[in-house]
Amino acid sequence: MNRIPMIAGNWKMFKTKDDALAFIYAVNVKVPEKEKVESVICAPAIFLRDLVKREGEDLRIGAQNMHELDEGAYTGEISAGMLKSYGVEYVVIGHSERREYYNETDESVNKKLIQAVRHEITPIVCVGESLEIRENGTTNTFVKDQVVKAYQNVTEKEALETVIAYEPIWAIGTGKTATPEQANETIKAIRDVLVELYGTTVAEQIRILYGGSVKPNNVDELLAQSDIDGALVGGASLDPDSFLTLVNAALNK
Ligand code: PGA
Repeated sequence: MNRIPMIAGNWKMFKTKDDALAFIYAVNVKVPEKEKVESVICAPAIFLRDLVKREGEDLRIGAQNMHELDEGAYTGEISAGMLKSYGVEYVVIGHSERREYYNETDESVNKKLIQAVRHEITPIVCVGESLEIRENGTTNTFVKDQVVKAYQNVTEKEALETVIAYEPIWAIGTGKTATPEQANETIKAIRDVLVELYGTTVAEQIRILYGGSVKPNNVDELLAQSDIDGALVGGASLDPDSFLTLVNAALNK
């Protein structure tokens, strides 16, 4: 199946303006052609305007969150229409940090997913289990349920515009990575759900990334797995050389 690999950096709440711009200048012309690897940086909202203006042909800029409604009295929030009006093309939705610290629910993830695709912004929809769930042996059931809820009322055509990121919570920022086999097994289970929801042809076109302590020294073995189509990367996306190593590794996928 011909899925273009994707490496999406998630900067979280790191960097200041000068660091952010220096990063873009350092990597812009060095990332692989977008037809071969989709290279994306999901930056803090305040940087988006400056970064989009400077993004090159092959580097794309995304947001880390957005609101589920078109507009309204929601102090501090940003809508899909606002992102779109600045040329932002991706948005991370339902990251476990947002689920944990900002009460994002499966229901709001579903609404945001639909809102993003309707504004032609590619949502990177995050799912993943806690350590407790992993140890209980119920990971696949839990993650499958998150996917079913995220894709409720999402049409086949809309689903094709989405990307999923499987991020076991216990592997995020901890230096503990799921083994490539563990990650691949859960990602396969996610693809099975997509087959149930949309049929094989659609399911095989949707990219599913792995996230959680992906680094230059473990990216090759993760990407070597059959169903892992790329990575959502926090810590290792902050340094230009490290990010470039990751996107170049995806060239071999
Ligand atoms: P990490 O973060 O690569 O620093 O573990 C991944 C993520 O939260 O998306």
